[in-house]
Amino acid sequence: MAVKVGLLGLGTVGTGTAQILLDPAERHPLVKEIAIARVGVRSLDKPRAVEFPPDCLTTDLEAIVTDPDIAIVVELLGGLEPARSLILKAIHQGKHVVTANKAVIARYGDEIFTAANKAGVYVMLEAAVGGGIPVIQPLKQALGVNRIHGVTGIVNGTTNYILTRMQQEGGDFEAILADAQRLGYAEADPSADVDGLDAADKIAILASLAFGGRIKLSEVYSEGIRHVTAADIAYAERLGFVIKLLAIARRDTCPISNEVLDQLQLRVHPTLVPKHHPLASVNDVYNAILVEGEPIGQVMFFGPGAGAGPTASAVVSDIINIAATLQSQQGSTATPSANPLLACSHQHYCKVSPMADIVSRFYVRLLAKDQPGVIGRVGLCFGNHEVSIESVVQIDMRGDVAEIVVVTHEVREANIQSALDELRSYPDIQSVPSVLRVL
Ligand code: HSE
Repeated sequence: MAVKVGLLGLGTVGTGTAQILLDPAERHPLVKEIAIARVGVRSLDKPRAVEFPPDCLTTDLEAIVTDPDIAIVVELLGGLEPARSLILKAIHQGKHVVTANKAVIARYGDEIFTAANKAGVYVMLEAAVGGGIPVIQPLKQALGVNRIHGVTGIVNGTTNYILTRMQQEGGDFEAILADAQRLGYAEADPSADVDGLDAADKIAILASLAFGGRIKLSEVYSEGIRHVTAADIAYAERLGFVIKLLAIARRDTCPISNEVLDQLQLRVHPTLVPKHHPLASVNDVYNAILVEGEPIGQVMFFGPGAGAGPTASAVVSDIINIAATLQSQQGSTATPSANPLLACSHQHYCKVSPMADIVSRFYVRLLAKDQPGVIGRVGLCFGNHEVSIESVVQIDMRGDVAEIVVVTHEVREANIQSALDELRSYPDIQSVPSVLRVL
């Protein structure tokens, strides 16, 4: 018997999802066993790329989540409300949920999964991170036996597109953002993407799965790309790096003993990535997620991080996963959410390291008076704060101002920030325009 689904939303991803479900030839045989029972839309009058019987479309979204015939509710509305309330209502009605909504899951995952476990239903979210890239189920299933050390991703296509163009054209952020908006690669309000918030939602979700605990989104450090300049990209290039917006989740280690700590580093920031690193060549709107664990070593997932078809591919994979489980349980007395590889299995919160304690290498660009002793004073200041310098170069002059670029060895964040505070007070240091972390 067909498994009936209700779609909430018929935008880009909703349309892509319907197109896969209505055209099952040469796909997994389960696809043809899924029937779209109802589709919730904002307006019935809009022209649609997919034809549905007249009584299938409705503007009454509540009627879908309470429809007794529907087994799986597919939430593709985006935004926080009414998405969150409808997901919760569907769960309380005993329906399984598939969602692409990273914003809702990253903020309300706690109440949603608690409710789902109580109701004995699945909430699946493959499309919430990395668009079409399968990474959620691999973390839960194929990589689940590994002890994960870190997840490092380029998980925002808009910022990767902007940084790639800045790299290739030597252009400045504002001009390329404006062009990206004109071409439809960036939203009119680009804040969620360029300020790192979308990437923070996604790394919170990935970390939760990789490290088996809940994450408070407010504990994810996030810094966007607005302050990355053409000059930084050019200097990074000369030093052998490209600049990428990385989302990083790592099990933290003690910098002295190297002992693994029971806490995570969770951060999103522009990062100098060595050109030979596998993430360095991930360009344009593409996404990639590098997972490191024991005993697997490194695995990198690469692909389209957004778009109708890729995201719909992830949505339908979740639908058939649930359908397969429901079919295998038909006639059995097992509780509906008996498959632990699909269900959420953790309740506690992960401990997150404060940024001040994070150890990493830094790239610092300083503007200073071009006079004897300046580089010496910079070096001494760093040394006084236990910041060890890997390289220091005076590359260019801007008028009578010298541009000095320093790359440090691994240092504690609090130490470099206090060194920089002191440097900013020196009369011969004009400004510190860039401070970026190095992978
Ligand atoms: N705004 C997102 C991005 C879309 O640029 O990657 C997919 O979540």
